[in-house]
Amino acid sequence: MVKKVCCSEWIILSTLLLAAVVYSEHHGNPANELIDIINKNRTAQRLPLLNDSPGLGCMALQYVEECKGNCSSNNIVHCQPQEDDFTEVFAPNCGVELPTFGTISGHIVGCQSKYLEPSVVFSQVLIRDKKTLSLLSNKTHTEVGIGLIGNHKGPFFWCVLFSNGQTNSTFVLEDRGQGIKQKKGCFSGSSIPCSGGQRTNMFLNNIVTMGFLYIYLLKQLYLFMTI
Ligand SMILES: *[C@@H]1O[C@H](CO)[C@@H](O)[C@H](O)[C@H]1NC(C)=O
Ligand SMILES: *[C@@H]1O[C@H](CO)[C@@H](O)[C@H](O)[C@H]1NC(C)=O
Ligand SMILES: *[C@@H]1O[C@H](CO)[C@@H](O)[C@H](O)[C@H]1NC(C)=O
Ligand SMILES: *[C@@H]1O[C@H](CO)[C@@H](O)[C@H](O)[C@H]1NC(C)=O
Repeated sequence: MVKKVCCSEWIILSTLLLAAVVYSEHHGNPANELIDIINKNRTAQRLPLLNDSPGLGCMALQYVEECKGNCSSNNIVHCQPQEDDFTEVFAPNCGVELPTFGTISGHIVGCQSKYLEPSVVFSQVLIRDKKTLSLLSNKTHTEVGIGLIGNHKGPFFWCVLFSNGQTNSTFVLEDRGQGIKQKKGCFSGSSIPCSGGQRTNMFLNNIVTMGFLYIYLLKQLYLFMTI
């Protein structure tokens, strides 16, 4: 009987461990998840899929970095970076090769006092009216990039940049983005994990929970062996 209890605990533990691994694999980058949601919505409207551009994504992160702190109480981003900032600040910071700088055919920014799942961000923070829905549904877009930033206390800022440039030959990153020094937040198409976001905390929570379970299990095992 005691042995049975012990084994079922092992099963629970390994299931949890597996769940944690699967979770962190699929939910490592909320910006990528949001791109999938955008493309699903466009496909449902019979619009072409948008290519995920890391160059645009990195600049979207730069954009929200600059707007950080300008979230109003009704969750509107009051921030208007200078037009020149794209070519003079964002692109150089990301290592976007200037000759490949294309046209930005639209942008959507939003903020929220706390971290929300990408699907909720899509419908409640970013695509919240006719104007933003029509921007999302513009058939001339070819590429998209998303950046997000926030800390565990919030607020969280999201920026979506669209471009109508030639896929894969606009917003090209030098050395495939090796030189990007991302300190906080995350962007789509990046292999660098999110930092300073809710995700990290969630992952830590998982590890702490696992730790407690492990101690509990060892105790049970000890009891079993001393019987
Ligand atoms: C953020 O808000 C402040 C105060 O309204 C304003 O002075 C500043 O220009 C804003 N930042 C940007 C980048 O627009
Ligand atoms: C789509 O975006 C282009 C700019 O990229 C703009 O000129 C055009 O008016 C937009 N179309 C619609 C239907 O909003
Ligand atoms: C696309 O998303 C918008 C905003 O959430 C929603 O109103 C619309 O119904 C969606 N369109 C499709 C075809 O799923
Ligand atoms: C762009 O690059 C991606 C990844 O390398 C590739 O899957 C896609 O087919 C390319 N698209 C075009 C239009 O060349």
